[in-house]
Amino acid sequence: MEISAQQGDITQQQADCVVVNLFEGMTAPKGGTGALDQALGGAISRLIWSGDFSGEAGKTALLYAGSETPAPRVLVVGLGKPEAFDLHAARQASAVAAKAIAGLRGVKTYATVLHGAGLGGLETAAAAQALAEGALLALYRPPQYKREASEIGPESCVVVEFDAEKLPAIQAGLETGKAIAAGVNSARNYVSEPPNVLYPAEFAERAIAMAEATGLSWSVLGKREMRELGMGLALAVSRGSAHKPRLVILEHAPDAAADQPPLVLVGKGITFDTGGISIKPSENMWYMKDDMSGAAAVIGAMEAIARLNLPRRVIGLAICVENMPDGKAYRPGDILTGITGKTTEIISTDAEGRLVLADALGYAARYEPAAVVDLATLTGAIGVALGRQAAGLFANDEALLNALLVASERSGERLWPMPMYDEYADEIKSDMAEVKNSGGRTSGVSSSAKFIEHFTEGYPWAHLDIASMVWTDADANPVNPKGATGYGVRLLVELANAL
Ligand code: BES
Ligand code: MN
Ligand code: ZN
Repeated sequence: MEISAQQGDITQQQADCVVVNLFEGMTAPKGGTGALDQALGGAISRLIWSGDFSGEAGKTALLYAGSETPAPRVLVVGLGKPEAFDLHAARQASAVAAKAIAGLRGVKTYATVLHGAGLGGLETAAAAQALAEGALLALYRPPQYKREASEIGPESCVVVEFDAEKLPAIQAGLETGKAIAAGVNSARNYVSEPPNVLYPAEFAERAIAMAEATGLSWSVLGKREMRELGMGLALAVSRGSAHKPRLVILEHAPDAAADQPPLVLVGKGITFDTGGISIKPSENMWYMKDDMSGAAAVIGAMEAIARLNLPRRVIGLAICVENMPDGKAYRPGDILTGITGKTTEIISTDAEGRLVLADALGYAARYEPAAVVDLATLTGAIGVALGRQAAGLFANDEALLNALLVASERSGERLWPMPMYDEYADEIKSDMAEVKNSGGRTSGVSSSAKFIEHFTEGYPWAHLDIASMVWTDADANPVNPKGATGYGVRLLVELANAL
C-alpha cells in the first residue's frame, strides 16, 4: 500500500473511505472528527449517544454518508482512554483501522487524519511514523503459493492535514515508518518462506539483493571460506545437510562514521532445524522453518537502518545453516573446535543454535565492536519461562543491557532480563572438552546463554532468546497478523539509533 500526505480538509476527500478517531469517553467530537461530524449533520455524535461506540481501543464503527461528503464511508476508530494514550496506542489504532478497511471489499483508497497529534499530544512526526508502521504491519500478507491469489486490502492511504506547516514533519515521519515497516515485513517474508525455498544459499541471495537495493556493503562467506577461518562448529551443524552453509555480512558505514567501532548484530539462521541425529518429534516440526528468525531480524533491521541512513556504523552477521540428520551428520559425543579454538563436546545435535552462534560471535571480534547483540530462537524453555509476551535478555554489560531495555520500551518489543549467574556455567562443564553444548534438565534457559558467553571475548555482549516471539498462531495483536512477527527489527533499529 502507498502512503502519502496532503494538505486539505478531511470532510472534502475523494476517497472510498475516510478515517477519523475518537477518544474513549468523549461526548463531543473535536478536530477532524468534529468537522466531519458537523458535515454529516451530527451522525458521529448520534453514534456516541446511541451507546454502540465509545471510542474504546481496538474498536471501530462504520458510517455510510449520503451526499454530505465526497467519500461514501466514514470509519471511526477508537483511541482508548486519553490517559492511556501513547505512540503504541496510535500505532495500534492505525493497524485496527487498516484491518477494518481491508475487510471492506469496496475500499481501494482511504484518507485518514493523524491519530493522536491533536488532543493526544503526540509529536507530529512521531504520530505519522506510528500511523505508517501500524497500517503497513497490519496489512502484511505472507508470500502466496496458491494458484488463485486473492488480492485483498487497500492500495493507497492519504494522511490529510489541515495545517500546511505540519506537512513536512508528517512526510518525514511517514518515511521513517515506511522504512521500518519494510524491514519488519522483509523479515516476516524470510521467516514465512518454506524451508525448501529458503535454504542458506537462497537466504544469502535475498540478503544480497536487499543490500544492492539499499546501498549496504555486503559479502557472503561459503563453506570453503568458513573452513579456512576454522568455523568447525557451524560446519559440523551443516554437515548433515545437502545445502551448503553461508555467513552473510552486511555493513552500514556512513562516511562520517566509517571508522567508528561498530554495533554488530548477529542472527541465528537455521533455515530448518530437524534436531539432527538428536531428532525432534515429528509433530509440529514444521514450525522449525522459523529457526532462522534471528538472522531474519538482523537482515530486516539492516534494511531499515540503511533506508533510514542512520548516522552510526552497524554490521549485521547472519549465520545460515540447515540442521539435518544424515550419514555425514555430526553426532552426540563428537568433540569439535570452532573459530575461537575452544573445544566443545556435543551432547545434543539439537542444541545447534549455540554452535553456529559461537562461530559467528568469534568472527565478530575482528571488528573490535562497540557492542555485539545476538538474536536467536535458541530454546523452547524461554517460552516456558516468559510465555509469548517477552524475549529473554542476557547480557554481561550493564550499559548495553540498559540500552536494550530503553530500545525495548520505545519499540514496544518486550525484553525481560534473565540471570547470568556463574553457577549456571557449572552445568555445561565437560569431562573431556572445555565446554559441552547442553546441560541438565534444569539448565534450559541460562546455561544456553552461559555457553554462548564462552565465545564472546573482547566486547560488550547481549543475547536475546526470541524463540517464543517470532511466530503467532492467532491474530491477537492487530500489528502482528497470524504467522511470522518480524520480532526484533524495530528493537534493533531503536538500539542502533540510541547507541
Ligand atoms: N530451535 C530450537 C529451539 C526452539 C524450540 C525454538 C521450540 C522454538 C520452539 C533449538 O535449536 C533447540 O532445539 N533447542 C533445544 C535445546 C536443547 C537440546 C538443549 C530445546 O530447546 O529443546
Ligand atoms: Mn535445535
Ligand atoms: Zn534450533
